[in-house]
Amino acid sequence: PRSTLSPSSATSDVYKRQNSRRAKMGYNYRDLGLTNTKEMFAKANKEGYAVPAFNFNNMEMAMAIVEACAEMGSPVILQCSKGALKYMGADVAPLLAKAAVDRARNMGSDIPVALHLDHGPDLETVKTCIEAGFSSVMIDGSHYDFAKNIQVSKEVVDYAHQFDVSVEAELGVLAGIEDDVKAESHTYTNPDEVEEFVTKTGVDSLAIAIGTSHGAHKFKPGEDPKLRLDILKEIERRIPGFPIVLHGSSAVPKQYTDMIKQYGGEVKDAIGIPDSELRKAASSAVAKINVDTDGRLAFTAAIRRVLGTSPKEFDPRKYLGAAKEEMKAYYKTKIVDVFGSEGAYKKGSL
Ligand code: G3H
Ligand code: 13P
Ligand code: ZN
Repeated sequence: PRSTLSPSSATSDVYKRQNSRRAKMGYNYRDLGLTNTKEMFAKANKEGYAVPAFNFNNMEMAMAIVEACAEMGSPVILQCSKGALKYMGADVAPLLAKAAVDRARNMGSDIPVALHLDHGPDLETVKTCIEAGFSSVMIDGSHYDFAKNIQVSKEVVDYAHQFDVSVEAELGVLAGIEDDVKAESHTYTNPDEVEEFVTKTGVDSLAIAIGTSHGAHKFKPGEDPKLRLDILKEIERRIPGFPIVLHGSSAVPKQYTDMIKQYGGEVKDAIGIPDSELRKAASSAVAKINVDTDGRLAFTAAIRRVLGTSPKEFDPRKYLGAAKEEMKAYYKTKIVDVFGSEGAYKKGSL
């Protein structure tokens, strides 16, 4: 599915040289004004909210996210998947994150901003990201068995902690697709395993599987879209105060799937996680909630609306600008309805 991003054979040598250059040029995340997630999570758990972790792939998305969070006074984690890194380049992502920090400060807000590798596949990718300027990384060993997951996660912790970079790992398997890994069904996190996992690995936060899943099709029509909050409660009991992460938490708003359909797109049986279920989780030990699909839907719906209503338009600023504003407006509502993080820091305005 990502073949359109691969270099043609004629350009592959140039592409390889660019890639090796990418790994060499880098920054310390503090020099970019970024923070790791340690204090963010401690404050979030103490005050009963969750930090929004929004994925971005370009300048418009990075600015939509940071402006929404700065206007609401919410801390923010800007995160990139491996696919996003391939799209933007590991050299560009940290500089967009720096621009996001500058934008927040120019707006008069003091929100902390972290740059996080989402679903890091291996230590090599983690190293590239830390050298490039990331302040936080995920190592996703959830598809390995328990012992191997501990081993790969610990390896990443030992490396990342030398640079004061935070590490998230995952226990349990979410249904759905993430990058190249696809799981047909959930394997809920086993509460009996969490204490041993966090003690043996030394990770800073733990992603768990309690019924969320990636993408726009989280439940089948007719299914009850409920999370296993009982498992979350049991996990909290085993590792009190430890920062928990939820992936796959988009609500898949009907207004955007409808708008996409209205302007010629196709989205069938798209069902997300109800805000009310997530709000319950956010007020507990859940310190970080990942949302990507909702932003993509808002962004795409706005582009379709502009191009559908103004067929003569070919200025990218018109449709990308509308997409940015739609994403920003939606994320501001999500900060209130789901994360509960409004006003945790100083608000700013453009
Ligand atoms: O969890 C996966 C994120 O939604 C990123 O998706 O790999 O298509 O960038 P992606
Ligand atoms: P959604 O697909 O529900 O937005 O989940 C995103 C995610 O978990 C990124 O890691
Ligand atoms: Zn995820």
